[in-house]
Amino acid sequence: MNEIKRHYNLSQLHTFRLPAKAESVTFLTSSEQVAQIPADAYVIGGGSNTIFLSDITRPLVCIRIKGIDVKEEAQHWRVKVGAGENWHQLVLFLNSNGIDGFENLALIPGTVGAAPVQNIGAYGRDISEFIYSVRVWDRRSKSLSNFSNEDCRFGYRDSIFKQNPMRWLILEVEFLIPKAWQPELSYGELKALEEPISAKDILDKVISIRSAKLPDPNVLPNAGSFFKNPVVSQKKFESLAARFPTIPHFNLPNNEVKLAAGWLIDNLNLKGFSIGDASVHKQQALVLVNNGKATGADVLNLAQHIKISVYDAYGIELEAEVRLLDEKGLISL
Ligand code: EPU
Repeated sequence: MNEIKRHYNLSQLHTFRLPAKAESVTFLTSSEQVAQIPADAYVIGGGSNTIFLSDITRPLVCIRIKGIDVKEEAQHWRVKVGAGENWHQLVLFLNSNGIDGFENLALIPGTVGAAPVQNIGAYGRDISEFIYSVRVWDRRSKSLSNFSNEDCRFGYRDSIFKQNPMRWLILEVEFLIPKAWQPELSYGELKALEEPISAKDILDKVISIRSAKLPDPNVLPNAGSFFKNPVVSQKKFESLAARFPTIPHFNLPNNEVKLAAGWLIDNLNLKGFSIGDASVHKQQALVLVNNGKATGADVLNLAQHIKISVYDAYGIELEAEVRLLDEKGLISL
């Protein structure tokens, strides 16, 4: 049976740990109970990409469906995982069982069910490369279905699930992982690694980079990257590069250029800048942190201050990468 709690303190259910409350929280432990979920409920996994800015009157559902099933095929591993499994634990489990490919995605907070929503990615690898299908409950038609990789319409930190946040509930993800493993070393600090290299070496390196730069939410509450890295035209990039010759950039196939939001913010000397008890992290400007007593207003004011400062300096509109919720619904900055 689903477990239902009333007047639940949400600081325990999201990693930014603002002091919001929910009128009711349902913990969904099996997909058989999914039909009972109210159509207007907010849904979270590990709560690492959602910030509750105020108390919530709508019902909240926390996905806790467990289970990892591994099947060996001639060319692939086929791995079905319950949406409520912890992401990093899955990465460690696969690595210790000789199933390689997820090592670049170590230490990303959150659950397996949240991974397809924003197509989690790090160090040159996106999870969409490995997703075969996603089992969902459609709240509109009240039925179960399987989305193929193509159906999911994956993009940079984007998918059909992110575009339609109230429609589908992810219950299980099926991964197809090639046995012929290729290391992915094209990105940033991994470039310095030399082949031959094992997946375990990459896993250890990613864990050490992330632990050094990204604050542990259990020590300093945060929701990872707060903003998306903006994508601009080649022309816009050239005008910025003329003013800022060291601006980090990544050329995309369609002649657009992805910039590093962390660099744009850092270059304005905003590392450590605070409003109330919310701050820009001192080591990584793309992460906002709760020093302990931050309120929803502190976070919103800080995010808006950063957005305006970045717009004034570079003419770029940052978009939130995290999901900001209050009692009225989804907030855009
Ligand atoms: N930079 C600065 N100052 C900063 C932060 C970054 O100058 O304060 C520069 C870095 O030196 C680097 C560039 O900006 O040249 C990019 O920084 P980094 O490699 O740390 O990655 P990021 O763009 O800040 C993205 C993802 C992370 C992911 C890392 C590694 C987004 C929105 N963020 O961050 O994802 O772990 O790359 O691949 O795409 C997350 O989504 O929560 C997340 C942490």
